[in-house]
Amino acid sequence: MGSKGNNFVLLSLSCYLSFISPSHSDTDTLLQGQQLNDGDYLVSASGTFRLGFVSPGSSRNRYLGISYNGGNQSSYLNDQIPVWVANRNAPISDASGVLHIDHSGKLIISSNGASPIVFSSIQTASNASATLLDSGNFILRELNSDGSIKRVLWQSFDYPTNVLLPGMKLGINFKTGHNWSLTSWVSDEVPASGSFTLGGNPSGSRELIIWWQGKVYWTSGLWRDGSFDFLRLQGNKIFSYISNENETYFTYHMDKNHIVSGYRMDYSGIVTAKEGLIIGTCSITGLRNADGCVKETLPECRNGKEYFEEITSYIEGNGLKLDESDKLSVTDCEAKCVNNCSCFAFASTNDNKTGCQIWSRGMDFKIISAGSGNGLVYVLQTHKDATKWKIRLIIAVAGVLFVLVLCSSCYLIRRKLRARRSRREQEILIYEIRASTTHSSKSRKTNKLKGEGKKSHELRFFSFESIASATDNFATTNKLGEGGYGPVYKVHSKCSKI
Ligand SMILES: *[C@@H]1O[C@H](CO)[C@@H](O)[C@H](O)[C@H]1NC(C)=O
Ligand SMILES: *[C@@H]1O[C@H](CO)[C@@H](O)[C@H](O)[C@H]1NC(C)=O
Ligand SMILES: *[C@@H]1O[C@H](CO)[C@@H](O)[C@H](O)[C@H]1NC(C)=O
Ligand SMILES: *[C@@H]1O[C@H](CO)[C@@H](O)[C@H](O)[C@H]1NC(C)=O
Ligand SMILES: *[C@@H]1O[C@H](CO)[C@@H](O)[C@H](O)[C@H]1NC(C)=O
Ligand SMILES: *[C@@H]1O[C@H](CO)[C@@H](O)[C@H](O)[C@H]1NC(C)=O
Repeated sequence: MGSKGNNFVLLSLSCYLSFISPSHSDTDTLLQGQQLNDGDYLVSASGTFRLGFVSPGSSRNRYLGISYNGGNQSSYLNDQIPVWVANRNAPISDASGVLHIDHSGKLIISSNGASPIVFSSIQTASNASATLLDSGNFILRELNSDGSIKRVLWQSFDYPTNVLLPGMKLGINFKTGHNWSLTSWVSDEVPASGSFTLGGNPSGSRELIIWWQGKVYWTSGLWRDGSFDFLRLQGNKIFSYISNENETYFTYHMDKNHIVSGYRMDYSGIVTAKEGLIIGTCSITGLRNADGCVKETLPECRNGKEYFEEITSYIEGNGLKLDESDKLSVTDCEAKCVNNCSCFAFASTNDNKTGCQIWSRGMDFKIISAGSGNGLVYVLQTHKDATKWKIRLIIAVAGVLFVLVLCSSCYLIRRKLRARRSRREQEILIYEIRASTTHSSKSRKTNKLKGEGKKSHELRFFSFESIASATDNFATTNKLGEGGYGPVYKVHSKCSKI
């Protein structure tokens, strides 16, 4: 919208607004012609709730919201976390927000630099006023001239944000087509419409459903005898399921001593109340699926044993930024990672925990723990089922032992066989050696016997004994003389017989 338009809006506002603010903290009603500035509040008659501009968490954006009045920062009833938000998808960037009822009886938020936000019904009324009730319902009514209530034009209870207060409904009005449902925030500090919705079954059956991105994610099971199949309701509350030709809805009220209560659905679809967790067992990763959860079909690369570990780390090297807008929650980003087979880690892209970036195997990255940077990073891990893990370990150990035994017995058998073979070979060898040695000595003997005194290459071989006896042990009497080759002896005649 251009500045011309803004000027026109401001001009037309000043034309009919009398610029009377409701006095601080002591009125519950805004009249036509009055305005509620940022910093002013409407407080319900007995002081339970208040309506005004707030900034959830560290956000600088301003939202017109209803909060518990006087709740403190640490408690469940934190007054900075509204139970209802008027402009969840159109935050105001500064403190210029003003709430008023225009001349046609509509609730409007105006601010500098943004188009006015009309959040009440399109019905017109000449004399309207808006009151914050002690139930937490902000109700716009048309008045008669005597100040009595003519009709209800609009009420915040028909448009819940993410908190179900006593008296709010979850279900469908068949006549108008309107449905009452809760829609999650995108993150703890971003009230924008998230991806989880809790409402009645559109078929009209007595059942509550949580949708994630339009797909059925959880069902309560049918309402029977005051309870649901898959939802245990406790506390000091009185629950009812109303169903007739006009409408079907679930609602609850508090018993007299417990006024303050609420079911809050967070950005991950978890529903909590003051007494604790109510619905929080489903997971888009297919894990932790308890009663009522609709099993998500996982890609083939996932086995359902995966989970993401939240680490306060810094990943050096940016992830693949799938979404830098503030439309995706951490849970939506988790789903993107689960469904991308190469993804092993993800994180929000923005400090307000919105947007989505993923890291894939093969990407250039480095995880540095205990740093500041991407903030919370969620890293894929695999659940090790304790008993299955033990069984696997036992099987593995048994397998290893079996292989060891097999190998060692193989080795022993081979060694034995080899030893036996080599012994046999040795025996054979020894036998052969023996055989060959006896043979050769025999042959040598025979040779000796044969060759003794026999001419062989014109040389005659004589044994030493025969020579010794023939020469009378080399007696000097038999010595003939001494030549170049030693002494020469005369032999007996009997030797010549040989
Ligand atoms: C703030 O909350 C704490 C517990 O959450 C409570 O004990 C304390 O009384 C509260 N203070 C006020 C002023 O409400
Ligand atoms: C509008 O309602 C007030 C009471 O709240 C009454 O005094 C006034 O006369 C009404 N105006 C018209 C035009 O009906
Ligand atoms: C969340 O943070 C992003 C980036 O800083 C910003 O653009 C966006 O407006 C924020 N959203 C809300 C609702 O505060
Ligand atoms: C409920 O309302 C939403 C938005 O107003 C719409 O998208 C959805 O179809 C409605 N559901 C039924 C069952 O009418
Ligand atoms: C349904 O609506 C019609 C017309 O609005 C009304 O007359 C009737 O009493 C309603 N039925 C129930 C059970 O509330
Ligand atoms: C999955 O991740 C890879 C690598 O980060 C990317 O190239 C691819 O486009 C992603 N696929 C889908 C369907 O987002």
